[in-house]
Amino acid sequence: MNVRALLNKRIGAALSQASGADSPAAVQPASRPEFGDYQANGIMGAAKRIGMNPRELAAQVVAAATVDDLAEPLEIAGPGFLNITLQGSFIATTLAAEAPLSAGINRQTVVVDYSSPNLAKEMHVGHLRSTIIGDAMARVLEALGHTVIRQNHVGDWGTQFGMLLAHLHDVSDADQSNELADLEVFYRAAKGRFDSQPEFAARARAAVVGLQSGDPDAQAQWQRFIDVSLAHCEEVYQRLGVALSRTDLAPESSYNDSLPTIVATLEQQGLIEESDGALCVFLDQFTNKQGDPLPVIVRKSDGGYLYATTDLAAILYRTSSLNADRVLYYTDARQGLHFRQIFAVASAAELAPEGMLLEHHPFGAMLGADGKPFQTRAGGVVRLTELLDEAETRARQLVAEKNPDLDEAEQSEIARVVGIGAVKYADLSKNRTSDYVFDWDQMLSFEGNTAPYLQYAYSRIRSLFRRGDIDADSFAAEISPTEPQEHKLGVALLRLPEVLEQVAAEGFPHYLCAYLYELATTFTQFYEACPVLSADEPVRSSRLALCNHTARTLKRGLGLLGIETVERM
Ligand code: ARG
Repeated sequence: MNVRALLNKRIGAALSQASGADSPAAVQPASRPEFGDYQANGIMGAAKRIGMNPRELAAQVVAAATVDDLAEPLEIAGPGFLNITLQGSFIATTLAAEAPLSAGINRQTVVVDYSSPNLAKEMHVGHLRSTIIGDAMARVLEALGHTVIRQNHVGDWGTQFGMLLAHLHDVSDADQSNELADLEVFYRAAKGRFDSQPEFAARARAAVVGLQSGDPDAQAQWQRFIDVSLAHCEEVYQRLGVALSRTDLAPESSYNDSLPTIVATLEQQGLIEESDGALCVFLDQFTNKQGDPLPVIVRKSDGGYLYATTDLAAILYRTSSLNADRVLYYTDARQGLHFRQIFAVASAAELAPEGMLLEHHPFGAMLGADGKPFQTRAGGVVRLTELLDEAETRARQLVAEKNPDLDEAEQSEIARVVGIGAVKYADLSKNRTSDYVFDWDQMLSFEGNTAPYLQYAYSRIRSLFRRGDIDADSFAAEISPTEPQEHKLGVALLRLPEVLEQVAAEGFPHYLCAYLYELATTFTQFYEACPVLSADEPVRSSRLALCNHTARTLKRGLGLLGIETVERM
């Protein structure tokens, strides 16, 4: 149950009634303990609008609000806030009921376009961010009961494949797998020849034509290249624990046949203008710095189609074949203009029905310690597999220091879970719109808002149950919060649904991270103040139930971020 939404509804109704106008209650989690559990902040604004004393209005809201089934008497505070404290019995029954997260959700079909690397090259850190953030969003939306369709919009088409095929052609069959082991090196070699050898460049162009006209040899070579490149992506997905499979692929090439239709549709709508032989759409809202109109080019003068054309075709497919209500795109912020433009063209051309939500959720860059874009020392792209290797190696050292008694296999498994979790969490816990510095020491720290801290908090609770010789999985008891720390922990546990709904609505997984971190620190305060195993019954069982609920919520929350936990560490 989304408690915050419930309070918003109840107090909002009272406020609207008392103010005579539709006024939102603006209920927030309380920012300080003395404000209770939640605080309604909407009264001052409503009072100002109708020219009424806010404390007077607050008194009327208190009189009109029906919250006595869940809250203690409402308290008026400051210039007209309402402090809300939940009843212990409400916390107990709500936690015991364990309503499914999907209860009360208006279900949608949501397409999540993420990862989507360019297969001509190695996956890079930009795709790491898209992969991690998009995957967490897909998991959260699914948990809330939405129908989620993952779309890996890989770049597998276009002129660059001509030079790759021409280069591949010159490599003997025996050497192919060797040469393709490093796609970055292969790409650079092909590009070097393309730029310096006219004969090669001509063959590269011919290869593109061959590929586009369906020449079987060109197709077969292209397919071989794509398979190798995809296998490399899948290695990264597998290690990251990202649920993207071949069935989620919606490559650029799959839209190839529909591109002429898209352009024809735009033409029929009178949206196309020709400019130097290229077909363009000009929309009033897009101009350059000088105020000149900025085109969206949909067909080049040589007849070739572009990234934008493919994205328009993808929008049509997602609405007409996938029945999407909402489409989320995860790419870095530099593609902001591209998405604003194609969304506007799609709407002008009625490719997307009114009411279908198209949202670009951009993210910033991953930076090195020097504040510059994240690169190897030599200034090259960082291979993601090597990055993940380093994460595990570093985590392995930490585990060996912390837990020298565990056997090798268990140490390695913990290191894998902690190392990969640390990389993912470091990304997910930051507001995605800003750049962030990739910092090994910070992300692997057992203190602060990190994966290891949360994973450790989970394993500590699990070890408590082992120490008490209690089977946590079958344990059940009523929670009756009496101490303030028990109350606070109970409220924190109740907040998972409201946090997930906010993540889903706004596309910000860091809300979930902030929540889990707060839950873990609230648990620590509880654990320091309230003995568990040594307490007398029924307090002992109630506290054990709180502990168990906390562990389950941590595991579930981390799971929704795509991060694993271990039973001991
Ligand atoms: N392949 C693109 C890149 O590497 C990202 C594609 C994002 N998705 C989309 N529908 N445009 O930058």
